[in-house]
Parts: sequence; structure tokens; C-alpha cells
Amino acid sequence: MKYLIETIGCQMNVCESDALSNMLSNYGMLQVHNIVDADVIILNTCSVRAQAEQKAFSYIGRVEELKKQKPNVKIIVIGCMAERLGIKIRKRFKSVDLVIGSKNINNFALKIVNLYNLAKIDDNILSKKSTEVGRCITIIRGCNNFCSYCVVPFVRGQEVSLDNKIIISECEEMVKSGAKEIMLLGQNVNSYKHGTVDFVSLVRDICKIDGLERLRFMTNHPKNLSDDLINLIATEKKVCHHVHLPMQSGSNKVLKEMNRNYTYEYYLALINKLRSKIADISITTDIIVGFPGETEKDFNNTLKALKDICFDGLYVFRYSSRPNTRASRMVDDVPLEEKKRRHSIILNESNKISSEIVLSMVGKTFEVLVENFKSNILEGRTGGGRKVFIKSTSKDYVGKVFNVHISESKINSLFGNIV
Ligand code: SAH
Ligand code: SF4
Ligand code: F3S
Repeated sequence: MKYLIETIGCQMNVCESDALSNMLSNYGMLQVHNIVDADVIILNTCSVRAQAEQKAFSYIGRVEELKKQKPNVKIIVIGCMAERLGIKIRKRFKSVDLVIGSKNINNFALKIVNLYNLAKIDDNILSKKSTEVGRCITIIRGCNNFCSYCVVPFVRGQEVSLDNKIIISECEEMVKSGAKEIMLLGQNVNSYKHGTVDFVSLVRDICKIDGLERLRFMTNHPKNLSDDLINLIATEKKVCHHVHLPMQSGSNKVLKEMNRNYTYEYYLALINKLRSKIADISITTDIIVGFPGETEKDFNNTLKALKDICFDGLYVFRYSSRPNTRASRMVDDVPLEEKKRRHSIILNESNKISSEIVLSMVGKTFEVLVENFKSNILEGRTGGGRKVFIKSTSKDYVGKVFNVHISESKINSLFGNIV
């Protein structure tokens, strides 16, 4: 039995697709990457923007065509859009066999297995991913923040922190099977709390695992990034000097309408605190342009914020109205053309800053964890998260940390040699 998983959406979806793939492998199913080889096609979906849903619809449309030639193929739609639209997906696309929403993620594998009466052949759910250097694990599901534009709390439900003992034992298993870097995932990892265990003590405990080189986590909500956590990033050697800290807007009026619970001044003070305690911290962010009521002046505040803060990287999105959210009841009054214009201004500015940052790294030496080896090139990352390419003939370097002297930069990439 051969299956294919196509994933749309955030890191959490990517991580859940991996976990599902591990489980299916343990039931004897074989993962393929070419759609014509698959008996089961699984699409993991996202609802965060209308565009993400359109992408899913067009994918399902293409798979339906394929099913006309291969009627035995099963089509399964999972994830956030499956949660949001549920049975409506099957009404619109008659050949979809199964729809499982993200609130039922614990049952993903089981439902698929039942569809085929498969028997479990292996109990160790992580055994099939044994070669990857970097792994991820969801530590907190759902979100309670209800930012006014965001559909995530509706499709993922209330915040639930997973049991710290289970998280730690999964991390130990990952390290045993070759992981060197673990990324902890959640919509707002800082609000992790299981019994008396908070995020800082969870991170501390995971760092105690022998053989683990690096720990990352995302996403951080600015209102929850505590001094304790900043101190931990500064002092715990294994924690990478990188925070993804979505700002969304540089206008206080817009931030308020977004229900983000902080002002630009608060955000800026947080950045300054991070930089004063951790000199080489890399800070990345998310920006939304064209939120309802965003004037040219609001937008210019965001642009000015980018110039003042000089983020190491950012994602910028055009506002997209999502059903049931508070912002969906506001007038989506920034015309599409204007959203596109603001989007490209932000992107240009960010590329400019980014290329200046990578240029300033040339001639310096950074610790790089090597993650991959492909056609005589080692691929690794700095603690700050930048990709580094190193010419080499040996794959024995994979999974190890080296000091790498950066000799060249191109747009967003770095090239260097092991010292
Ligand atoms: N939990 C994370 C991110 C969740 S979604 C956080 O709080 O930052 C990832 C990003 O998508 C968000 O940071 C936001 O920038 C963007 N986004 C969410 N809803 C959106 C919408 N309706 N339109 C455009 N961008 C959106
Ligand atoms: Fe959405 Fe806000 Fe929750 Fe992030 S914190 S998932 S943007 S509601
Ligand atoms: Fe992620 Fe999209 Fe769901 S951003 S949480 S896959 S709506």
C-alpha cells in the first residue's frame, strides 16, 4: 500500500504530516513522492488565508482527475481546512473518501488504517525517521489569543499543553535515533503550562538530554515573552539565539484593532532588551499589510519600524478576511492593488536589509550544524537560522557542529569553509 502526503500550511502542519507518515510506515504503508504511484493521497490543509484554501481546492481538483483513470485511489483531506469546512468538502468534491479535521489529529492514522484494515507491524512510532538531524514536536495545541484576523483558534481549538513527561521521552527517543536539533512548536509556545511545569522549565529539562546539540522553538507572542525566557536563551548553551516574534504592524491603532495586546513601543522595548542581553540574537517576524482601516500613515509606521529594527528575516502577508473572525465584520477596505503594493514595498525593504546582514557576516566565523549532504555540498545552519553551504566530499560531517568561516554571500545564502 503506497501513500503520498502533500502539506500546505505552517510548520505545525509539516510536523504533523511527518508524525502521520511515521505512524503509517509502522502499519507497513510505503511513502511515495510521485502522485501517480500512490494508492492513498493525503492532503494536509491550511485555512489561515483564503489563498491557502484555494491551493487545496485546486489540488483536490487535480487529484479528482487522476481518480477518473485510477478509481481505486483513495483521497483523504486532513488539517485545518478539513476542520473548518468538514463535510462540505465531500459535498463539493464527490470523490474525496475521508475528511478529518485538525481537532481529531490523534485519530488521523487510526482512521486511515481502519479504511484499509491494516495491522500494526511496529510499535516504535519514531523508528522510520531515524536519519534526520532536525526534528520537531508540538508541545502546545490550539490558541486562546483570538487576534481579530485569525482563524487558528477556530480550527485548532482551545490551547492545550501536552504532558511534559511525554514530550521529554519523545525528545529522548528522537535524540537516540539521531536527532541533533529539536524544534518545539506551538502557536504561542510561551504560554505552555502543564501542572507546575512552564515553558522555561520544560526547555531547561529538554536541554539536559545528552547528545542534543540545539533547541529551537516557535512561535513567541510578544505579550508572553518573559524575562525568565530571555535569560534562559542568554545562558543555556543549547538554546539557539533566534526568536520568531511576530510584530504584525507598526501602528498602534492597527495593533489595537488586531487585538494583539501590545503597543509598538512595548514591542520595540522587547527587541532592545533581547539585543542588550543576547548580542548575536537573530530576530524574525510576521507582518500583515492591508488590515481593515490601515491607512497610508499606518503602513508607513510599519515600514519605519522595519527600518528601525532591521529584522533578520520576515514573512509578509496581504490581509485576507476569514470567516467567523472579528475582523471579518470590519470593512475590508484596502483595495487588492494597494495590498499588493504595500506587500512588495515591505518585501523589497526586507530583502535589502537581509542582504546587508548576510554581507556583514562574510569574513566571520559561525557555529554551523550540518544537516544534509547533497552533490558534494554540505548544508547546515547557524544558530540564528541562516543556511550555510560548504563544499565537501564527505557525508560524515552530517549531524555535527563546526566552526565555519564565511567566504561569500548571495541574497539570503552563505558559503563557507570548515575552520
Ligand atoms: N501563532 C502565530 C502565527 C500564526 S499564523 C502568531 O501568533 O504569530 C502565521 C501568520 O499568518 C501570522 O503571524 C499572521 O502574520 C498571518 N495571518 C494570520 N491570519 C491572517 C489573515 N487573515 N490574513 C493575512 N495574514 C494572516
Ligand atoms: Fe492566530 Fe493570534 Fe493565535 Fe497567532 S496568537 S495563532 S495570530 S490568534
Ligand atoms: Fe497552521 Fe494554517 Fe492551521 S497556519 S495552524 S495550518 S490554519
